[in-house]
Amino acid sequence: MADTLTVTDSRTGKQYVLPIEDGTIRAMDLRQIKKDGEDFGLMSYDPAFTNTAACRSRVTFIDGDKGVLMYRGYPIEQLAEHSDFLETAYLILFGELPQQKQYDDWARQITLHTMLHTNIAKLMEGFRHDAHPMGMFISTMGALSTFYPDAKEIFSEESRRLQTVRLIAKVPSISAYAFRHSIGRPFNQPDNDLSYAGNFLNMLFRMTELKFNAHPVLERALDVLFILHADHEQNCSTSVMRAIGSSHADPYSAIAGAAAALYGPLHGGANEAVLRMLHEIGSMQNVPAFIKRVKAGEGRLMGFGHRVYKSYDPRAKIIKRIADLVFDVTGKNPLLDMALELERIALEDEYFVSRKLYPNVDFYSGLIYQAMGFPVDMFPVLFAIPRTAGWIAQWEEMLTDPDQKIARPRQIYVGPTQRPYVSKEKRR
Ligand code: ACO
Repeated sequence: MADTLTVTDSRTGKQYVLPIEDGTIRAMDLRQIKKDGEDFGLMSYDPAFTNTAACRSRVTFIDGDKGVLMYRGYPIEQLAEHSDFLETAYLILFGELPQQKQYDDWARQITLHTMLHTNIAKLMEGFRHDAHPMGMFISTMGALSTFYPDAKEIFSEESRRLQTVRLIAKVPSISAYAFRHSIGRPFNQPDNDLSYAGNFLNMLFRMTELKFNAHPVLERALDVLFILHADHEQNCSTSVMRAIGSSHADPYSAIAGAAAALYGPLHGGANEAVLRMLHEIGSMQNVPAFIKRVKAGEGRLMGFGHRVYKSYDPRAKIIKRIADLVFDVTGKNPLLDMALELERIALEDEYFVSRKLYPNVDFYSGLIYQAMGFPVDMFPVLFAIPRTAGWIAQWEEMLTDPDQKIARPRQIYVGPTQRPYVSKEKRR
């Protein structure tokens, strides 16, 4: 017998039997529960969607209590160990790990699309010298839709595939241009002999040398960080991607919106916020006083806590290991000791333990980025590059899902009831 939930409406005494499928009831099944014929029907109230599944997805699985993260069934630890970002992006986008020929074709297509139209470069030059690179990233993403009007053909599989390649190929170029603009240096052209991460580092840091080769440890570290950030199921920015995509906007416009959601300090801006927090704390002796302030509700311990993970974020574990490898090359980030001390105290403190607050992916990633030479305001951009793969995969899944429609939540209206218009002279 199928699982069901029986609900008795105390207002009418009527009973309703709601089917349970995959551990959920359908919210629309509640609508039949009415006080009387006039009644609209019952709705569920779920601000911030903390207990609402808005889709079925095959992309990413998370078990927040056990600290498990898998892309298409592959554990994140194995991908971080054996895969590279382009392969992981392929997996996330198309559902399977590529065979060698598929991988070679994919990597070749990406390299064919790394260059930016010169008018995009001109557009980016128009920003003020101190423009935040994430603001430039968001705006340029939106502008890309005007360069590729064919992207509006969202129901053409061929067009979606082309936009996917363009997006994965161009996000590092746009990000590197934003960085070069902010430091007043000319844009570097992509070098297609290099790996995805290696080319990105080339576009960021090449000066007058004819060939730029990044330190292999740093190149691999960045690639693994890209793998770790490639998707994270229905987070804030991905939900925005799906919501904008549900109105059938083109993928560039949808990614501009998703990236804007990622910009906030509670989401992709958190690693930037972690670094600012560490600078603000200033020294080891101020750590206990800072923790005290957090516990008193005067601010948060940035890089701690997660809506889904109620144990150690598996990505944070991998990042902590990478940090050691990176610091062997770059020298230790002086803020590291303070971060370790904050973590040590928080993991023993009743306040954090009882709320299941553990370091998340952003607690250590900023320290690595800073040691690699990235300014703090590039951090959210470094998140947006790999997350583009996840956004596109989730967008495509939404578009091809017959259950999906334009996203349109309901509300409980709590404003004034009807009242007559009052002219200005008579207003009190
Ligand atoms: N520092 C101190 N207290 C915290 C923190 C924190 N970082 N995070 C949560 N809490 C406390 C809250 O005050 C609350 O306590 P209360 O029950 O006494 O009121 C309790 O823990 C639950 O917090 P919520 O805000 O309900 O948890 P939610 O799931 O809504 O928030 C979030 C998750 C936004 C990530 C939160 O933990 C936070 O703000 N963390 C800091 C920012 C951060 O690191 N964001 C990155 C997230 S990962 C990512 O986006 C890639």
